[in-house]
Amino acid sequence: MPAKKNPKVEIEALRAEIMAHNKRYYELESPTIADAEYDTLLSRLIKLEKDHPELRTADSPTQKVGGAVSSSFAPVKHARPMLSLDNTYNEEEIRAWNDRVLKNMPSGQTPSYILEQKLDGLSCALTYENGRYVRAATRGDGETGEDVTENVRFVGNVPPELRGKNLPQTLEIRGEIVLFFEDFKKINDEEKEAGRPPFVNPRNCAAGSLRQKDAQITKRRHLKFFVHSYGDWRPEHELAGHSSFLDRAKLMGFSVEPYELARSIDQVVEHYNRFRDTGVAKLPYAVDGLVVKVDSFAHQRRLGFTAKSPRWAVAFKYPAQQATSVVNDVEFSVGRTGTITPVAKIEPVFCGGVTISNVTLHNFDEVARLGVRIGDRVLIERAGEVIPKVIKVVEKARGAKDVVPPKKCPVCAGPVLKEEDLVAVFCDNPSCPAQVRRTLEHYASRAAMDIVGLGDSAVDQLVSKKLVKDAADLYDLKREDLLGLELFKDKKADNLLAQIAASKAKTLDRVIYALGIRHIGEKTAETVAERLDLDALLRATEADFQAVPDIGPVVAKSLHAFFSSFAGKNLISRLRDHGLTMAKPERVIAAGAPFSGMTFVFTGALTTFTREEAEEKVKSLGGKASGSVSAKTTYVVYGEDAGSKLKKAKELGVKTMTESEFEKMLP
Ligand code: IVH
Repeated sequence: MPAKKNPKVEIEALRAEIMAHNKRYYELESPTIADAEYDTLLSRLIKLEKDHPELRTADSPTQKVGGAVSSSFAPVKHARPMLSLDNTYNEEEIRAWNDRVLKNMPSGQTPSYILEQKLDGLSCALTYENGRYVRAATRGDGETGEDVTENVRFVGNVPPELRGKNLPQTLEIRGEIVLFFEDFKKINDEEKEAGRPPFVNPRNCAAGSLRQKDAQITKRRHLKFFVHSYGDWRPEHELAGHSSFLDRAKLMGFSVEPYELARSIDQVVEHYNRFRDTGVAKLPYAVDGLVVKVDSFAHQRRLGFTAKSPRWAVAFKYPAQQATSVVNDVEFSVGRTGTITPVAKIEPVFCGGVTISNVTLHNFDEVARLGVRIGDRVLIERAGEVIPKVIKVVEKARGAKDVVPPKKCPVCAGPVLKEEDLVAVFCDNPSCPAQVRRTLEHYASRAAMDIVGLGDSAVDQLVSKKLVKDAADLYDLKREDLLGLELFKDKKADNLLAQIAASKAKTLDRVIYALGIRHIGEKTAETVAERLDLDALLRATEADFQAVPDIGPVVAKSLHAFFSSFAGKNLISRLRDHGLTMAKPERVIAAGAPFSGMTFVFTGALTTFTREEAEEKVKSLGGKASGSVSAKTTYVVYGEDAGSKLKKAKELGVKTMTESEFEKMLP
């Protein structure tokens, strides 16, 4: 058994460690541990201080919120402290919180809960006087924040003036400033292009964007503000509860995230489970938990506050999406098109609800950019359904080993090439078993030929037994071939053969996508198949491909390289001989579809829909979506910061509309 630690020593060590992390997080904006790891340290300290009240001190990090105030912006003293929320991490803890709430309820009354997302951004307090925006302050240490009035003026959805009558003379609204993933990605692409280190996550990027001396930079960053609470205002006098407050804020012109109401803790848990499993990954911004608030102001008053947080609200955290771990080794995986990807083998770590031991490093430029070496401790992130990735090195190891690109393909020992202008290093042998496997897996995947039963392990067996070398070989498979394989009993073999046969009817777009041609995704395959039939594809020049709307030179080159090559023509002809119809796709749209005959172009930053969603809506209603404006365009729908396409539409006299006007057109 390990020696029992002296609590005083442990408490002091924890305090020093937490304070150092606070400084890195709040002041230097460069954390070296994941949030969940920080929470574990803090929870341990809270527990020790609870068990040993004689060791509590007023300057302990458990008694303070956030970091110190940075000196570069003027300090603003908050009219009421900006508190934080207590965290719960599992059903037991949220139920224990609920028990404490119920104990404080008047007899016979049960509270209603309002459920909001816990946005992972920056807390900010906005003050309005007589309905006009006058000031914005960051949270700072909870008592005093920084004056960011000029910068917040340029946060797109912050109203300069409030709507409605009977506005209180002074009104302080609090909320979270966030950056959508889409905008975060664009900013980081620009940072990389300019040779600057990219931001670690959207929250850090939002913080950096807000604390700019030049507010014009803030403007370009597309930050957004969502209301979640209030400071110097007493809506309790006029409204019944928090949900009415949010509704009121919305009427005043603020953006408010959708919320839900729950009547019992069971409903809270149900909602949490559903959102954690299927909701979080779909959101366009980062969230790290569900916030559960007692709705009624009367009930809130009975519950009151502790020194740090309200008793009437709590955060129910989603499983951590970030963690730190050590890189034990780096292996190389060979993809469908031969690209060799370095993959870090890390000490297994629990993150985002799963144990992670492999993390992609994307390519060798990324390895160099991160400066990662074998032995280093790294911060990893698992965002939604995406493969976990390394965000940064948090601790360099002594004697760490460099990651060296392989000289030979790790699977077939064939030559390795690096294409000029491309970051990828790849295996140049199209018969490399790794490439053959990945190509077949892709061919059979749901969005491609959708051959159920031809998953990774079936492909693996077919390739290693040399029964299949390419997609056309699949159609030569016999029942006996399959029965000779492990795990293939009668019924399973018959099912797979039936699935393979059924795939012969797939339309041309699916086939083009399934072939796994470089740079050709589902959408491009669809666009190409709508314009060119199979014979036209086989004859097309690079210029013919470029003439297809939305097809640029790189894609045109890749399509041409495939369809004009001997290997490509040969594969297509064998697929044809096997009876694949490869017919032009036809969208089945109900007669009289509202958008039939119309072409829409979306441009600028949309807020209600992602571009893909908006385009899908148009297609589902019988219309077409295009990436470029021409005289044939029916409508150009523009969001914030629309540029050349909107200009072109005006020049050509094409009708334009805002995103909300478009929304109104929808049935
Ligand atoms: S309520 C008195 N609601 O999380 C508590 N906070 O530790 C007032 N946050 O810094 C905050 N989403 O900025 C509330 N839906 C939400 C939130 C939220 C994010 C932030 C908040 C605070 C931290 C709480």
